[in-house]
Order: sequence, then structure tokens, then C-alpha cells
Amino acid sequence: MKSYSEAAERNKRPILAVLQQVFADRSMVLEIGSGTGQHAAYFALDLSHLTWQPSEHPTNLAGLRERCNERLVPNLAEPIPLDVDDEPWPILTVDAAFTANTLHIISWPQVCRLFTKVGSLLPEGGAFCTYGPFNIDGEFTSKSNANFDAALRARDADSGIRDVRDLTAQAKIHKLFLQADHPLPANNRLLIWRKIVTL
Ligand SMILES: C[S@@+](CC[C@H](N)C(=O)[O-])C[C@H]1O[C@@H](n2cnc3c(N)ncnc32)[C@H](O)[C@@H]1O
Repeated sequence: MKSYSEAAERNKRPILAVLQQVFADRSMVLEIGSGTGQHAAYFALDLSHLTWQPSEHPTNLAGLRERCNERLVPNLAEPIPLDVDDEPWPILTVDAAFTANTLHIISWPQVCRLFTKVGSLLPEGGAFCTYGPFNIDGEFTSKSNANFDAALRARDADSGIRDVRDLTAQAKIHKLFLQADHPLPANNRLLIWRKIVTL
């Protein structure tokens, strides 16, 4: 059954305001862990100059497909199965990638893998936008994020809020550099990574 996220409804506008700038010159975006598809449908409608490619872990693909298929958005591609652990990843020609609220759900080795795969997919100048709660220099940015992290770890010891410093170190290995860090409502952030090979 198609699911619905209140949080995605609340955060889609502030995220889009940044994506309108960052993706202004992009033509093909791969979204990883699209969830309900609310972001995909909303962003594709506004960013009509590009193609939005949603993807999901195979176990959660049906609901995503249902939502995307009910929307007649011509630049919203048919959702594809994609598990971060897949080897190989599908062969896609993309110049941007996006993921929301996934880095604190998947394990740290999977986060590293995600950066490896996105880093190899993107061409020079490619943009990778990651949205969610993040820590700064080893500190939670709010009490509510600290509580959220404790709840995540109680449910799954491998999950938890990631630190921008750790992500920056990992991203750099794959020529992805932190270009901007946008604080957004509810103690979330939108981190913009840019692939730069020729430094
Ligand atoms: C908290 S939800 C976020 C969904 C959506 N992006 C949003 O912001 O509303 C985390 C998503 O990560 C997906 N996910 C978890 N493990 C994954 C994996 N190994 N590969 C791909 N997606 C995964 C889940 O299926 C789920 O849709």
C-alpha cells in the first residue's frame, strides 16, 4: 500500500528552494531511498528542465511506484529498485544525485558505499545533495536530534546521526567536496557535495 509521510510534506518546500539553485543546470537526478515518492513527485513537477529518477530498496518499491504512477509528471521516471548494497549499481547517466533521511538509517559501511557509488556515477561538476539531521564537530545541533539519535540506535545499533566531519572525509576519497551546508527547519540540513576531479 502507498504510504504517506507528514515530515516529507513539511520539509519539501525548504528543500526545493535550495534544489532550484543547485540543480538549475542539471539534467538527470538519481534519488536514492525515495520512500513514499512525495519528494520525487513534488520536485519533478517544479524542476521540469530535468529528469527525476526515483529509486528504492526492493522491499519498499511498490508504494513508491504507486504514487509515482498516479502523477502525470512527464519528467518523473519510472522508479527503479536500488539497494545501496547492490553490486553492481545500475548503469545510469546522471549529473546529480539526491537522498533524504537515509544516511542515519543505513549503517556507516553503507553510507561509505553510497558515497563510493555516487562518486563514481557523477561526472566532473556533478552535484550530490544529502538532506537530514547531521552532527557538527561531534556535537548534536539540538536536544531533539540527540533524542532522535538515541531512539534510532535503540532500534538498530548500526544506525544513527552522522557527523559532517566524517562525511567530508569519506566524500573526499571519491572527489566529492562539501560546497555548501544549508541549515533547514527542524534542525535538519541540506549538504551540497560537488564532484571535482581537477583540483
Ligand atoms: C526514513 S526513510 C526516508 C524516505 C524519504 N527519502 C523521505 O525523506 O521521506 C529511509 C529510506 O531509506 C530506504 N533504505 C533503507 N535501506 C536502504 C538500502 N540499503 N538501500 C536503499 N534504500 C534504503 C528505506 O526503504 C526508506 O525509504
